[in-house]
Amino acid sequence: MSLRRIVDLLRTGQPDESVTIQGWVRTKRELKEFAFVEVNDGSSMAGLQVVLNQDLPDYAEMVKMLNTGASIEVTGVLVPSPGKGQRIELQANTVKVYGEADPETYPLQKKRHSFEFLRTIGHLRSRTNTLGAVFRVRNACATAIHNFFQERGFLWVHTPVITASDCEGAGELFTVTTLDLKKVPLTGEKAIDFSQDFFGKPAYLTVSGQLEAEIMAMAFTNVYTFGPTFRAENSNTSRHLAEFWMVEPEMAFCDLEGNMDLAEAFLKYVFSYVLKHCPEDMEFFNQRIDNSVLATADNIINNEFARISYTEAISLLEKTDRTFEFPVSWGLDLQSEHERYLAEEHFKKPVIVTDYPAQIKAFYMRMNDDGKTVRAMDILAPKIGEIVGGSQREERLDALERRIDELGMPKEELWWYLDLRRFGTVPHAGFGLGFERLVQFMTGMTNIRDVIPFPRAPLSADF
Ligand code: 4AD
Ligand code: MG
Repeated sequence: MSLRRIVDLLRTGQPDESVTIQGWVRTKRELKEFAFVEVNDGSSMAGLQVVLNQDLPDYAEMVKMLNTGASIEVTGVLVPSPGKGQRIELQANTVKVYGEADPETYPLQKKRHSFEFLRTIGHLRSRTNTLGAVFRVRNACATAIHNFFQERGFLWVHTPVITASDCEGAGELFTVTTLDLKKVPLTGEKAIDFSQDFFGKPAYLTVSGQLEAEIMAMAFTNVYTFGPTFRAENSNTSRHLAEFWMVEPEMAFCDLEGNMDLAEAFLKYVFSYVLKHCPEDMEFFNQRIDNSVLATADNIINNEFARISYTEAISLLEKTDRTFEFPVSWGLDLQSEHERYLAEEHFKKPVIVTDYPAQIKAFYMRMNDDGKTVRAMDILAPKIGEIVGGSQREERLDALERRIDELGMPKEELWWYLDLRRFGTVPHAGFGLGFERLVQFMTGMTNIRDVIPFPRAPLSADF
């Protein structure tokens, strides 16, 4: 038995080859003397057409079982396909049914289901064309990310999921505790007594691996983390998840320019890789989901991103006759409508906005000489808005301490972060790319919940 993946057979299978395939039935067509079954094993968008002749043993009973969703194994011989749409097909000699799927109750039928409906059957939706293509592209993106950094000598470091620090200072933390919620121990001042908790202090699911990545960059120069991050943001939007994956490179001896150059090269690389490795899936997105997907990819790969300062962005937004829900003035945290206007309508390509007001950015960003703005950079993408957030970090001990004090943050708890500025400090920079937003951008999928296999969002943690 030569067990093969369907994608390989479709690409390189030759007539007269004896092969075995395993997979799930997508469709069945019965004619008088034979039946066609399309089998998909997830390795490609297209399935393999299997032909069953009526002289097979138990033909009638067998065909009855081969309904959409049934799992089967077929052994046979490849033959040139006389039909349209495929080069070869599999002439079955033996068919084994592993598990049937009752057509009366199997939720996925031939018709096109809405993505909302598919979210209610998260245990089955990956068997559809669209979600199948999404998760293959997602896999290719992840591979491209590792390749990009590995080719450039970056060390992949694993930062913790459980942490005691709120990197972004936005207070969107999920607490990790083993305290008995029915009998929470209290201190004399009636605060929760975390000294009795598992870690002896409050602990959270991480919102970002950056602070730990900075530690590692101070030893390995160039590092990246790539893993799940958690935010208890109660925002039910098509771009927010409570659990999402983030890619965070961190580079020592690097400033904001170097950071932007790397981020731009990185996005171009990932797009090129996916176009090369998932051409059928990308074609599908362009035809069925968003007909600008391929043009967007081409635009990313072949054009330089625009670069402007926050102050310039604000004056662009003030000049347009467009009315925004959130009125524009210097100091405003750009909202998705502003970000999309800039990327989608004004520049018609990704734009990197730099030097935001300090008061709307996190404590660790390097203060500019004007004392008002910080060396931040966000990459705004058409349709998505912010896809990357990054900065040059404050490497000067006195400036960092001043900022931490201004914000009233607990300096003692950040002693190790300050130590990095005491011992061998260097200019350094990094960024975070929202992995699901990247997959959305690449595929044109409008809802972020449809680009992660098991979305976590407010009131939604099934499957
Ligand atoms: O801009 P953010 O908050 O930056 C950081 O966390 C930095 N520590 C990164 C760094 O410099 N190492 O988040 C980075 C990116 C955003 O640009 C966005 O793409 C994505 O993470 N993101 C989310 N994606 C999905 N759901 C959410 N709730 C997200 N919040 C942020
Ligand atoms: Mg951000």
